[in-house]
Parts: sequence; C-alpha cells; structure tokens
Amino acid sequence: KRVAILISGGGSNMVRLAEDMSDDHPARPVLVLSNNPDAGGLAKAAQMGIATEVVDHRDFKGDREGFERKLISVIDPYAPDILALAGFMRILTEEFVTHYAGRVLNIHPSLLPKYKGLHTHARAIEAGDKEAGCSVHEVTAELDGGPILGQARVPIVAGDTSDDLAARVLVQEHKLYPAVLRRFAVGDKTPVLLP
Ligand code: GRF
Repeated sequence: KRVAILISGGGSNMVRLAEDMSDDHPARPVLVLSNNPDAGGLAKAAQMGIATEVVDHRDFKGDREGFERKLISVIDPYAPDILALAGFMRILTEEFVTHYAGRVLNIHPSLLPKYKGLHTHARAIEAGDKEAGCSVHEVTAELDGGPILGQARVPIVAGDTSDDLAARVLVQEHKLYPAVLRRFAVGDKTPVLLP
C-alpha cells in the first residue's frame, strides 16, 4: 500500500509513521505534502528519502475548492492508496474527501467525540476532566467526525498546563497512529485502544 502523509508543521507523527513502515509493514510512505512551505517536517521527510511537495494554501486565498483541486493534482501522480493527515491544519471539504473516499485518516488530540476542533487540551483541563487522549479516525466531510479507528488515554494531573498535557498525549499519538495504520493497511478496522 502507498501512503501519502499530509502535514502542516513539525511532522513528529509523520516521522513515526514513516519509521514504522519498514520491511515487515504492508505500506510504504510515497509522499509527504504540506500546505506550509516552512513546515519543519518537510526537511525531516527529505532526510528520510521521502518525496515532498508543498501546496501553499495562501496562494488560494478564500478559494478552498481551488486549493483542494491543486492538492488533488499534486497528490494523484503519487497514486496513494491511503492519505494520513498528521498535524494537517486545513479543513477538507466534501469534494476532497469524496475523491479519496474511505482512504483518509486523521489523528486528533482528544478523546472523540469530545472536543472536536481546536484547543482540545485547554478545554479538557478547563472542564475538570480526569483524562484526555488522542483519536485516529476516518475522515469524512464532518470536521473530526468519521468512524474511530483508535484511541489512547492519558491521565490529567493536577496542575497540568495544556502544554504538559499536549506533551503527554503526543507520546501516545506516536504509538497509536502507527498501530492504526498497520491495521488499516490490511483492511482491519478493529479499533486500537491504548493502554
Ligand atoms: C499534534 O499536537 C497533534 O495532536 C496534531 O498536530 C500536532 C502536531 O503534530 N495532530 P506533528 O508533530 O506535526 O505530527
């Protein structure tokens, strides 16, 4: 299976996914694409020998459809079987999701369906939750919706800042996403639940 990974920033999830796709894995990373030309993950992907592309969303101010058509025209020559969104911070419309129907995954830093959208850790702390975590889900047109393929839980500790919690959750993201991709690549949708 050919995997394209979409990033917007440092790409730590992309690195773990790419590192996990070694010889015994049914999938290979064939592309790392970012909407942000300054994304630190691009250099990391290049160092790993993975092809990289940039489609800068700022070139399509207000033209979401135009941005997505450009994304598709850049991605499709790499013929991915799976798209893994990993710290990709653009909302994708029905048109894009339909084009890759059933083949797009995303990791979101909350225990979905709680805390869709942004600032998930601050919201969990604010709500007085005792635990937080991350979810990998199939991407549908509904933001942070779609069937859940994996979740990892972490405790919220008294005095946690959102940065403390983000760091604790990120460690689990790096375990969860590769585990989900291994199953998804062979058509196994049994949810991965950590710990
Ligand atoms: C992480 O906080 C993750 O929860 C979210 O994007 C952030 C950056 O991820 N998906 P990465 O280091 O760019 O993979």
